[in-house]
Amino acid sequence: MPKPQAVLFDAYGTLFDVYSVGLRAEQLFPGRGARLAVLWRDRQIDYSRLVTMSGDPARYLSFWDITERALRYAIQAIVPQAVDDWATYADAAASLMNQYRHLSAYPENREVIQALRSQGITTGILSNGDPEMLGIALRSAGLDSLIDPVISADAVRQYKIAPSLYALGEQATGLARAQILFVSSNAWDVLGATWFGYQTLWINRANLPFEQLDTQPTASGTNLRAVLDFF
Ligand code: LAC
Repeated sequence: MPKPQAVLFDAYGTLFDVYSVGLRAEQLFPGRGARLAVLWRDRQIDYSRLVTMSGDPARYLSFWDITERALRYAIQAIVPQAVDDWATYADAAASLMNQYRHLSAYPENREVIQALRSQGITTGILSNGDPEMLGIALRSAGLDSLIDPVISADAVRQYKIAPSLYALGEQATGLARAQILFVSSNAWDVLGATWFGYQTLWINRANLPFEQLDTQPTASGTNLRAVLDFF
């Protein structure tokens, strides 16, 4: 396989820790913060797939909007009275959405991305996130000057694992898919990117098995430093 000339990172879960909202969730919903964070993340991904699979462009919602609706679902799932009395929980939801805007970044990101750039490798993001969310998250993490291009699902109004979204990586870098390494901690995203034809690296932070669908990532590791081993 050719040495990749660009690395495209997934954003949520890969560069930014989506479960870092758990602490605030635990303050707001004692004893249920971790469950809320997991339900929230799962519904967010489900909703992104549902609107894309509907095939109806009118069903598209921005990723921010999807994230907000997924949170409403997750809160209602752990606090049934919130279904009929959402107003009481709207402030808690707003506080969690604000937290989501400023997710923690993983500590090893910067040195890995800098090391790649010093080798002349393009370092970008290819994410479901909308451009505004991604811009704020990158600026909060101080990574904005190290990531280019920033590729958002919003450009095609389709979410992962739509091939049209992965194809934006080729268009933005001017490289063929086999020359691009796609890096994600989400196994399903790595699966979609491998099916598309990217070289792939799965960052298995949670020590989970890979998806059982007869396709394996090109390589895997336990944190972002595995990208440097890949090279
Ligand atoms: C993203 C989600 C899938 O950033 O984590 O695309």
